[in-house]
Amino acid sequence: MNIGGTLIAGPAQGALQGHITVPGDKSMSHRSMMLGALADGITRIEGFLPGDDNFATAAMFEAMGAEVTWLNEEKTALEVKGVGLYGLKEPENVLDAGNSGTAARLITGILAGQDFHSVMVGDASLHSRPMARVADPVRAMGAKVDGREGGNKMPLSIRGGKLKGMDFVSPVASAQVKSCVLLAGLFADGETSVREPKATRDHTERMLPLFGQAVERVDALTCRLKPCGQLTAPQDVVQIPADPSSATFFAVAASIVEGSDVLLKSIGVNPRRDGWRRVMEGMQADLTLEAENTVGAEPVADIRVKATSLQGMKVNPQDIPDAIDEFPVLFVAAALSEGKFVLDDAEELRVKESDRIATMVAALQACGADIEEKEDGAIIHGQPSLQGGVTVNAHGDHRIAMAMAVAAQKMDKDIRIENAAAIATSFPSFVDLAQSIGMNVRWEET
Ligand code: S3P
Repeated sequence: MNIGGTLIAGPAQGALQGHITVPGDKSMSHRSMMLGALADGITRIEGFLPGDDNFATAAMFEAMGAEVTWLNEEKTALEVKGVGLYGLKEPENVLDAGNSGTAARLITGILAGQDFHSVMVGDASLHSRPMARVADPVRAMGAKVDGREGGNKMPLSIRGGKLKGMDFVSPVASAQVKSCVLLAGLFADGETSVREPKATRDHTERMLPLFGQAVERVDALTCRLKPCGQLTAPQDVVQIPADPSSATFFAVAASIVEGSDVLLKSIGVNPRRDGWRRVMEGMQADLTLEAENTVGAEPVADIRVKATSLQGMKVNPQDIPDAIDEFPVLFVAAALSEGKFVLDDAEELRVKESDRIATMVAALQACGADIEEKEDGAIIHGQPSLQGGVTVNAHGDHRIAMAMAVAAQKMDKDIRIENAAAIATSFPSFVDLAQSIGMNVRWEET
């Protein structure tokens, strides 16, 4: 896929130092916008991620009647004037989820409960990603969903209506699927429960109660929602903590560049997002938690990262959903470690913004890494440094681009990372923040 934007990233010129506040959590920013749009009253949000994915969610709800007022130039603070649970209006045009699987899949649950017809499109990457995982359960609840490949591929056409609650056993460990079904459950008659094969991020369950909708945790893998018929804008500001998925790029960079010492400020440390830390601790990374606190319904902490010699390990399959977005940069950590790193049971990586197993294997191999592709993961033998002087392709996937910029800090020459513009979907300030701690990365001038 050619989406443009080329990064030039080269070896770090010295130790990485300083402290960084990364932008707000992408998953929570989506959910705050969605729940705010469906609530009675005005929801105030701070720490919102000003990324293209979250703007796509905002635009879709604006097209259905919610009003969004930005309160600062950076678009991290905003008010959402909600329409009430039953107040969305039929959009006059197609809804565009852009590059965002989270936007598309969660909104499918909401659209399934509407008494109108909607059509949702996205970019080429999103059009290649599986949607049956959400189309099937909302159909079982009573919505009509159609699309390419029998509704497995976008564009999707959704005609919502009266839904019935259900006990859904999800075949895939996916917070997007769980959240889609819970959101559809808000509009259903009776209770809806979701059971997952492995525990996934629980931001929807944590955030709904702030809007007055209880969610019962039945056991580690099951949650249940009895719709109360209304969401209410919280009295308090909804605060979004800093995104651990963005922080991990700097945690790996600081671990691999000798002498580095970087403090990552106020990062979300929800155990369901903390898999990256468990994997890195398994690799003997030097991570220290400081200033542990709570922001809204979520735990946060400052995380100090010091350079160390990373070791290989076998990833515990239970940790995979909790680190699902971090594997591109964890592969980089593994490629620059001592010993053997083994990941299996991670076939979900093949259906992210790109096929993240194939794209990372190609990019790292081009830089001389010893990485073997497996259907459901990879085997990586670490080495002290990598070879630059090549052009790699991020395939329009933000996390591949940022992971390779981290890898370049330990190369002998710089690399070009093509099709990197998608960094704007989740982390528009990545290059500036990376430079602020001494990383060697910049945009190629066109
Ligand atoms: C997300 C869930 C994960 C993750 C994505 C965000 C969410 O996807 O990869 O970036 O906000 O619910 P899956 O649920 O498909 O694993």
